[in-house]
Amino acid sequence: MLPVPVPRDIPLPLPADGFYLEPLLIVAFIAHILFVNLTVGGAVYVFLLQLWSRRRPDYAVLARAVAQTLTVNKSMAVVLGVAPLLLINVLYTVHFYTANALTGMAWIALVPVIAGAFVLLYVHKYTWVRLAHRPRLHLAIAGVAVALLLFVPLVFLANVSLMMMPERWSSVAGLWDAVWLPAVLPRYFHFMSASLILTSLFGVGYFGREKFVQQAGFETLTAPNIRRFFYRIAFGTSLGQYVIGPTILLTLPADGLNTAVLATVLIGAVISLAPISMMWLELKEPLAHRTRLLEISVLLTATVLCMAMGRHAYRKIRLAPHQRAIANATEQWNSDSSQAAFNARLRSELEASGRSVGQPIFEANCMACHARDERLIGPPLTEIANIYAGNPDGIVTWAMAPGKKREGFPQMPPFEVLGKEKLRHVADYILQTAAHK
Ligand code: HEC
Repeated sequence: MLPVPVPRDIPLPLPADGFYLEPLLIVAFIAHILFVNLTVGGAVYVFLLQLWSRRRPDYAVLARAVAQTLTVNKSMAVVLGVAPLLLINVLYTVHFYTANALTGMAWIALVPVIAGAFVLLYVHKYTWVRLAHRPRLHLAIAGVAVALLLFVPLVFLANVSLMMMPERWSSVAGLWDAVWLPAVLPRYFHFMSASLILTSLFGVGYFGREKFVQQAGFETLTAPNIRRFFYRIAFGTSLGQYVIGPTILLTLPADGLNTAVLATVLIGAVISLAPISMMWLELKEPLAHRTRLLEISVLLTATVLCMAMGRHAYRKIRLAPHQRAIANATEQWNSDSSQAAFNARLRSELEASGRSVGQPIFEANCMACHARDERLIGPPLTEIANIYAGNPDGIVTWAMAPGKKREGFPQMPPFEVLGKEKLRHVADYILQTAAHK
């Protein structure tokens, strides 16, 4: 087992109490991830609908409408991403930074990958008419954008998992190591499914409106058709979450789970039964004049809130011991450097008062073996002073790398760690002391 790295933190207080920052992180994160879901899910929908439109021309109309909303949702995702990114950096500086550094290439690659995906989404959207005679090329543009967008959450999930597992920091080098960490792949599929569910519900509400259907000019699709289409996918994918969700809990290291975390997640899962039954009702016996979308959205929001809180609590529990170790290392470092400052001040005070700077160094390093007048393990200082009278540098040279000189004496250990400057103070002190009395 490789050692767990315990880096030193920057000894700066948080800009505000965690009491405010943590709920802010959860809420800001949910707002951001909602639009990320709509962007990733929307891109997948555009691609699939366009693919299926060869047999159902109405799907091409729908695909184009989704593509129109996609670039708006993408901009929202970017703008709303700033707050959670800053908050997580502030609250988990050492952990988040370390994870990003360990997957450095992939993390940096997100910049061109995201920018590339966005450019392709715009190209795809604005070439709908011009590339109408080259459907494969047009579809391929969407396909590349989707592939790039699918890569992004993988990197994020690998990193936010890696940041919670300091015990793996020594063995992870790059994204592909991090992807195989516990729970990363289940979390990825959990996220992708959530993207499909949310985009489907968005589809029900936005494209399932009578007004939209009238303007779109479908050949056969009606508003209830569209709602049914999106509800079916939302419902089926939601059922899958009951398999993926528990898989995450089972694959996550158990030491971050406690009753509170499990209860929060369980409450979220129980709440989710209601909106999913409502989706099923919408498929079985849809209401004539409206959909249950509002109820479904409110209840799913409650589920997402529970999951986000559970996830935050898990991370907090899991990281608590490591954060304590970091706090200790930081305090140690602080006191080490205040010790160094204290030593420097002591030296200048001793020099100013005319007392020997060498004395405390001698007492700490040499006194165990050397006394003034009698032989201890080494010879007395009087004997040393005889040999090195007027030659303190000779003592320094000896102490840096002692030879073997006297019969019946053991080998003296070397003191080059002290450095020539300190040893010179010691040498002066030895000659001074031996000369007294
Ligand atoms: C672990 C015991 C030990 C410590 C600690 C120790 N010495 Fe010694 N020292 C000896 C012994 C043993 C000898 C005799 C070695 C020999 O002659 O072979 C010796 C010899 C010496 C000599 C005589 C060299 C000579 O040319 O005859 C000097 C000078 C000296 N020590 C300086 C120091 C200084 C300065 C320190 C502290 C920085 C120090 N020693 C710490 C054991 C020690």
